[in-house]
Amino acid sequence: MSEVSSDDRAIARWLMVCLALVFAMVVLGGVTRLTGSGLSMVTWHPTGMLPPLTALQWQAEFDLYRQFPEYQQINRGMSVDEFKRIYWFEYSHRMLGRLIGLVFLLPFLYFWFSRRIRPGLTPRLMLMFVLGGLQGLLGWYMVKSGLVNNPHVSQYRLTAHLTSAILIFGFILWTILGLLSPRPYRPLAESTRPRWRQGSLALTCLVLLTIVSGGFVAGLDAGMIFNTFPLMGGALIPEGIGALSPWYLNPLENLVTVQFNHRWLAVLTAILLLAWYWRGRETFASQPAQTSFKLIGMMVIIQVALGISTLLWQVPVVLGALHQAGALLLFSMLLFNVHALSRV
Ligand code: HEM
Repeated sequence: MSEVSSDDRAIARWLMVCLALVFAMVVLGGVTRLTGSGLSMVTWHPTGMLPPLTALQWQAEFDLYRQFPEYQQINRGMSVDEFKRIYWFEYSHRMLGRLIGLVFLLPFLYFWFSRRIRPGLTPRLMLMFVLGGLQGLLGWYMVKSGLVNNPHVSQYRLTAHLTSAILIFGFILWTILGLLSPRPYRPLAESTRPRWRQGSLALTCLVLLTIVSGGFVAGLDAGMIFNTFPLMGGALIPEGIGALSPWYLNPLENLVTVQFNHRWLAVLTAILLLAWYWRGRETFASQPAQTSFKLIGMMVIIQVALGISTLLWQVPVVLGALHQAGALLLFSMLLFNVHALSRV
C-alpha cells in the first residue's frame, strides 16, 4: 500500500468541487427542461454573460423569443414576467456551465505552473476541459433543434447531451477515485477476481443503457402517457407499441414503445443490481468494495421508487429532477464498484 501524496489530495479536492458543480449542472438542466424553460434564450453568445437588466432590455429579449414557434404555438399570450421565470432557469444553467469552466481552468493553471500534477495526469485534465467545452456546444445544438417549426427539442440530441454529461461526470469521478486510492490498479489479467470485474463493468453499461432509454422518455415527454404501473392501458403489452413503420423507428420515436422499453429495462437492471448486491455484499474483505455493494443495493431501490412515482404523478418537476439525480448517483456507485473491484 502506498500513501496518497498531498498534491494528489489537493487535486482530488479541487476535482470534487468540479464534480459537485457538474452534478448541480445536470440537475439544473433537468429542472430547466421540466419547467419548459430550455428554449427561452434563442441566441447563444459563448462570451456574453449579462442578462437583460432594464425593462427595455427585457422587452427586447421577449420580442426575440416571440418570433419563435415555442411562443407562437405553446406560450402565446405569455407576459414578460412569465417569460422572465423561464428565462432565469435557462440563464442559470448556462452561467453555471461557464462557472464550472472557470472553477476548472484557474486551479488547473495553478497546479500546472506549480508542477503539482503527477506525471500522466495533465493530458487527462486537459481532455476534461475540452469535453466540458464540447458539452456546451452540444447543449446549443440541442436547443437549436427546438427553435424550428416544431418547438420540441430533438430526443436524440437531448439524450446525447444528457448521456455525455453523465460520462463527463463519470470521468471526473473515476479520476478522483484513482487519485485517492492507496491501492494500485490491477490489470484484468492480474486480477484475482476477473469475473467480478467483468460483471461490474457489464452492469455499469446496463445502467448507462437504462439512462439512455430514460433520456428518450424525457425527450419525447413519454412520461405523460400511461401513468400506471405495472400495466400500460390495462395491458402488459400496450396497444400501439409497434405502430410506426419501419419497425426500427418504434424504440426511438414511438412514445408507447419508448416508455415500455424504459420501464422494463429499468426493472431488469434493478433485479440484476439487487442480485449483484446480494451476492457481493459479504464476498470481499476490502472496505471500499463492501461499501460499493451496499450503496448499489440501497440506491437502486430508491431509483426505482422515484421512477415509478414520477410516472404515477405524471412527471412533477421535483420528482423528475430527483429521478434524474438518482440516475447519476446510481451510475456513480457502479463506477465506484468497478473501481473497488479493480484493486482486489
Ligand atoms: C435503474 C433504474 C432507472 C434509471 C437508471 C432511470 C434513468 C432515467 C433517466 C436518466 C431519465 C431521464 C431524466 C431526464 O432527462 O430528465 C429517466 C426518465 C424517466 N424515467 Fe427512469 N430510470 C430508472 C427507472 C425507472 C422506472 C422503474 C420508471 C417507471 C416505471 C421510470 C420512469 C421514468 C419516467 C416517467 C421518466 C421521464 C421523466 C421526465 O420526463 O423527466 N424510470 N429515467
